[in-house]
Amino acid sequence: MPSPPDSTSRDVSADVELIDVTKRFGSVTAVDHVALQIERGSFYSLLGPSGCGKTTTLRMIAGFEQPTSGEILIAGVPVAGVPPYRRNVNTVFQHYALFPHMDVARNVGYGLRQVGVTRDEEQRRVGEALDLVRLSGYDRRRTWELSGGQQQRVALARALVNRPTVLLLDEPLGALDLKLRKEMQLELKGLQQELGITFVYVTHDQDEALTMSDVIVVMRDGRVQQQGSPEALYERPVNRFVAGFIGQSNTIAGRLSGLDLDGGMASVETPTGLVLNGRITDHGARPSIGDEAIVAIRPERLEIAPGTPSPTAGWTSVAGRIHQETYLGDQTEYRLATDLGQLVARRAHHGHAETTTVRSGESISVRWPDDANLVLVA
Ligand SMILES: Nc1ncnc2c1ncn2[C@@H]1O[C@H](COP(=O)(O)OP(=O)(O)OP(=O)(O)O)[C@@H](O)[C@H]1O
Ligand SMILES: [Mg+2]
Repeated sequence: MPSPPDSTSRDVSADVELIDVTKRFGSVTAVDHVALQIERGSFYSLLGPSGCGKTTTLRMIAGFEQPTSGEILIAGVPVAGVPPYRRNVNTVFQHYALFPHMDVARNVGYGLRQVGVTRDEEQRRVGEALDLVRLSGYDRRRTWELSGGQQQRVALARALVNRPTVLLLDEPLGALDLKLRKEMQLELKGLQQELGITFVYVTHDQDEALTMSDVIVVMRDGRVQQQGSPEALYERPVNRFVAGFIGQSNTIAGRLSGLDLDGGMASVETPTGLVLNGRITDHGARPSIGDEAIVAIRPERLEIAPGTPSPTAGWTSVAGRIHQETYLGDQTEYRLATDLGQLVARRAHHGHAETTTVRSGESISVRWPDDANLVLVA
């Protein structure tokens, strides 16, 4: 939770703070009452679908846009009216416009020349920055002689050369192919840890966010849906949107038939009469008996066995059939037709001995423990 807007009692470990920030463009509300506390030295990702307000949030931190209301603090200091070049923040944009008429070294040194460092100093720091992004020796190359990944690294070196305390990155790997993107993800994460600077990273790719981040904030329609560690978002998504956006989930609809709000537990009765018991992940929610609810279950929690289900306390078991089986290299995905509708199960392969005893078309039982049931009331 954000601390009260009292600049004398700022938590100094927050490097960037947004207090109830809203941004409107005419009738469009791009960012809607957003509160964020981004800790110093953390890798913080803004994740959400196209148009949810990620870039606008980043541009306000950078100083290219002003909030319609609310306040932004960098290193504990309000930055309203402070122009971008006077904030200790640099941005790497999705379209990392390098200057085509300058070689690599001059591109990287651009920000240093703007503030008038000596030529020796510029050369030294450009060398260091190129070292960091593993492009030593590329000083005199022209930008069009570089691959996409190398150009991206030049853009990164250019943003790092004047040692910002915060680096803002807007889908910086969007233009790269999958393999290079994966490599650059690891490099960026390594660089961030090595330098200890705060990264605010915009992406709409959940895998990317999960791999790289200390904290992810999931946005939708300008609003924060949930923020937390990758594990927290995956294990305890607070609503249907987050459950669907982070990873894959089976969802079963029903109505609340039992509630223990203090214990955070609920029972959901499905239209078939089956009752599922599970955790309510949204601690702020105040649902009532009879309300519609969704039970979300991660595919890897489903267990499949041949034969008919046998009821076990603390487990849900249903009958079904394997509809489709897809080999995915490190795991197999099963599409199951069950009494509760279509479900997806995933089984990881341990070692190379595949011991699947079930086949497509076969009658099976599917079961999962109650603690796999996430009860979503919104
Ligand atoms: N300068 C502007 N003028 C008017 N509307 C804008 C402007 N910039 C952004 N918007 C609107 O604000 C909303 C949020 O846009 P934003 O660029 O922040 O989204 P995003 O999450 O970065 O999306 P994407 O993943 O597509 O880049 C959108 O509806 C967009 O059309
Ligand atoms: Mg954007």
